[in-house]
Amino acid sequence: MALERTLILIKPDAVQRRLAGTILSRFENKGLKIVGLKLMQVTKELSAEHYAEHVEKPFYPLLEEFITSGPVIAIAAEGPEAISVVRSMMGSTNGRESAPGTIRGDFGVSRQMNLVHGSDGPEAAAREIPIYFKPEELVDYESSLSAWVC
Ligand code: TYD
Ligand code: MG
Repeated sequence: MALERTLILIKPDAVQRRLAGTILSRFENKGLKIVGLKLMQVTKELSAEHYAEHVEKPFYPLLEEFITSGPVIAIAAEGPEAISVVRSMMGSTNGRESAPGTIRGDFGVSRQMNLVHGSDGPEAAAREIPIYFKPEELVDYESSLSAWVC
């Protein structure tokens, strides 16, 4: 069982809809540990860096417009197999197809405005966390819960 860190974004639609606390609570309730957290505006440059694999895709201009349309909350979260745990809690990309019980399945019907981002693998997490957090913004601390959730 690997202790992993992953990048979560609470996207502009969720912030605007006042769902940020609800979504963050799901990850906290699951037992993930917050090691970085900030409210920030994604610029076009940051969007292109984050979504490098999608920049040439036809949907990218609208994706860029959406992700830069208002602030996001960036979270670095840690836990056992945190990357796949977060991905399964998010649900599939299109809210209409996401299973009930997942974040996208419970709160959205859009493919683009789908509330949340999570790194899709260890390489993505290692690439994405430094895009949003400087090393000194990631806080290492002991948590007494670790004995119960790991
Ligand atoms: P992707 O990495 O495929 O999805 P996920 O967020 O589930 O890892 O795509 C990145 C984002 O791009 C996705 O969250 C929503 C948006 N998107 C579209 O707007 N249209 C599309 O056809 C796809 C595939 C993605
Ligand atoms: Mg993805």
